[in-house]
Amino acid sequence: MKKTYLVTGGLGFIGKAISISLLQQGHNIIVFDNNFREKRFFLQNKNLKIVKGDIRKKNDLNKVKTNIHSVIHLAAINGTQNFYDKPELVLEVGVKGIINIIDFCKNKNIKEIILASSSEVYQNAPSFPTNENVRLIIPDPYNPRFSYSSTKIISEILLLNSSFFKRAIIFRPHNIYGPDMGLKHVIPELIMKTFKAKKTVKIQGDGKNKRSFCYIDDFISAFNIIIKKGKHKEIYNIGNTEEVKILYLSKLIVKLMKQNLKIEKSTKSFFNASRRLPDLKKLYKLGFKPKFSLNNGLLKTIEWYNTNYK
Ligand SMILES: NC(=O)c1ccc[n+]([C@@H]2O[C@H](COP(=O)([O-])OP(=O)(O)OC[C@H]3O[C@@H](n4cnc5c(N)ncnc54)[C@H](O)[C@@H]3O)[C@@H](O)[C@H]2O)c1
Repeated sequence: MKKTYLVTGGLGFIGKAISISLLQQGHNIIVFDNNFREKRFFLQNKNLKIVKGDIRKKNDLNKVKTNIHSVIHLAAINGTQNFYDKPELVLEVGVKGIINIIDFCKNKNIKEIILASSSEVYQNAPSFPTNENVRLIIPDPYNPRFSYSSTKIISEILLLNSSFFKRAIIFRPHNIYGPDMGLKHVIPELIMKTFKAKKTVKIQGDGKNKRSFCYIDDFISAFNIIIKKGKHKEIYNIGNTEEVKILYLSKLIVKLMKQNLKIEKSTKSFFNASRRLPDLKKLYKLGFKPKFSLNNGLLKTIEWYNTNYK
C-alpha cells in the first residue's frame, strides 16, 4: 500500500537515506526540518515535499497539512561538541520534539510512529555485545555530554508508556556512516584530516576505544525490515558487529586513501564509552543480513568525499 510518511529531521544524513528508499518504494514523503545541520545535497522528486519548521514549535508542525499515515521521528541535535556546547538546545529539541510529535499524531490521528533513539542510551554498557534489554543509565547529570542520551531515554519512555499508538517502534542506531554524512563524525573527520595531512593524522584520545561501524546501505536494509516486520513497542539495535579500535580505523582510512602518514594520539577531551557493540540477534531474526564490510563501506565513503570535498 502506498503510504505518506512524515520524516522529521529528514534533511539529515539518515533522514535523506530513508526518504530516498521510501520514495523508491513508491511512497510519498513529507520532510520536516529546520535545516540546523550543514547543507546537504538533497534530492528533488514529485512525491517529496519539504516543510521548513522547528520541531520545538507546535505551530510549525501545523504547517503540515497533508494526511499522514506514519511518522518517522529523527529530528535531533547530534554531534558530541553540540552536547557540550549547547546542552539546553539539545534537551529542548529532544524533549519538546517528542512531546510535540506525539501531540501532532494524536491531533491528526496518526497511529504509527518510528523513533530514532541511539546507542548512547547504553553509555558504558554492562555487557557486550549489548542487547536491547540491558539497563539504561545517565552516568552523571552534571555532565552536559548526557543531555543527548537523556532525551533519547525520555523519548523511548514516552512512547513505551503511550496507549495511543497502534504501532510504535524504536530503533537504536550504532555508528552509521557513509557518503554525505556531514563533517562532524569520526569517519568524515579522519577522511578530511587525511586529505589535508602532510605527515601525521591527529586522532582524539589514545585510539583504544572500540566501535563497530554500519554502512548506510546496510542501515537502510535493516530499517526497511523493521518498518515492515517490527512489532509494536519493540526496540531494535541497528548496527554492525565488526568491532575495531579507533586507532585501527584511522590506519585503515590512511591506507585505503593510499597515503603514507603516521597517526598521532592526543589527550582525551571528551567522555567516550570504551566500547559499543550491538547485539543484533533481534534484527537477524527478522531477516537482516549485513552486506558491507568496513573496507568496502569505507571505500565508497572515501570516494564520495574525494569527489565532493577534496
Ligand atoms: N548517524 C548515527 O550514527 C546515529 C547514531 C545514533 C542515533 N542517531 C539518531 O538518528 C537520527 C538521525 O541522525 P542523523 O545522523 O541523520 O543526524 P543529522 O544531524 O544528520 O540529522 C538530524 C536532522 O534533524 C534536524 N533538526 C535539528 N534540530 C531540529 C529542529 N529543532 N526542528 C526540526 N529539525 C531539526 C537537523 O537539521 C538535521 O537535518 C537522530 O535522531 C539521531 O539522534 C544517529
